Amino acid sequence: MARILVTGGTGTLGRLVVPLLRDADGKVRVLSRRSREPADGIEFVTGDLATGDGIEAAVAGTEIIVNCAGSSKGDEDKARNLVRAASRAGTRHLVNVSVVGADRIPVVSGVDRAMFGYFASKLAAERVVADSGLPWTTLRATQFYDLILLTARAMTRLPVVPAAAGFRFQPVDAGQVAARLAELALGPPAGLAPDIAGPKVYEMAALLRGYLRASGKHRPIVPVRLPGRAARAVRAGANLAPDRAAGGQTWEEFLADRVGPPAR
Ligand SMILES: NC(=O)c1ccc[n+]([C@@H]2O[C@H](COP(=O)([O-])OP(=O)(O)OC[C@H]3O[C@@H](n4cnc5c(N)ncnc54)[C@H](OP(=O)(O)O)[C@@H]3O)[C@@H](O)[C@H]2O)c1
Repeated sequence: MARILVTGGTGTLGRLVVPLLRDADGKVRVLSRRSREPADGIEFVTGDLATGDGIEAAVAGTEIIVNCAGSSKGDEDKARNLVRAASRAGTRHLVNVSVVGADRIPVVSGVDRAMFGYFASKLAAERVVADSGLPWTTLRATQFYDLILLTARAMTRLPVVPAAAGFRFQPVDAGQVAARLAELALGPPAGLAPDIAGPKVYEMAALLRGYLRASGKHRPIVPVRLPGRAARAVRAGANLAPDRAAGGQTWEEFLADRVGPPAR
């Protein structure tokens, strides 16, 4: 039985990866910043990747680490703390999740950093993993439907909804990403794996309109042109992977599941 640590095993993606690895006969441990009782054959350990607290104990004895922990900032520092502990523990496979476009969206100016700093931190984290000396795999995914839903909900609270002009997204079902990640984790280290992306490319306004329709809300959507090189790269499609479109749910199907028909 492989001993596997899933960091971020309480998050949108990690929560879907954990049962797949457990059911594949893995002995799974989850790292979280909050303490939890063991449940469904899963052990929980407390630690914080940003500070490094508890990480040595979390990785001790694990052969495979699947790094699903992340936030909008500082993922390179979290990766550094993880890699340091994993190197001492003799981990034989470190699996990392990144974002499609991390290497194609230039984050140069303050404006770029304010809006797209996340992409720079994911690229920096990728480099920490690749330079770690540990056997590694990185999978870049496009945005999960859950994130688009969260964003659409927040934006449509405004009376008028701004949509970045020319921005397109190719969102993906987190379940599809979880399945691919679990498969990669149990296979040999693959380096940079082929990207994973959703089945369809949508204009940002179309994603918002889909949400408004599904939730029975009415809001005007106004296009806003975002400045900077990173935004220009996104307008050119740097965040898309049309040749890596996975099957699975479309945005409309996800909305039908999660938002349901508007209340009468
Ligand atoms: N969401 C997307 O659209 C998307 C697209 C492409 C790639 N990704 C990448 O996929 C990964 C997972 O994303 P997600 O959407 O599942 O994130 P999420 O739902 O926000 O979950 C984040 C997870 O990270 C853990 N975490 C955050 N900061 C931590 C810290 N300092 N120490 C330890 N654990 C920490 C959280 O655990 P606790 O709160 O329990 O501590 C939680 O389980 C991230 O690397 C993200 O960049 C996401």
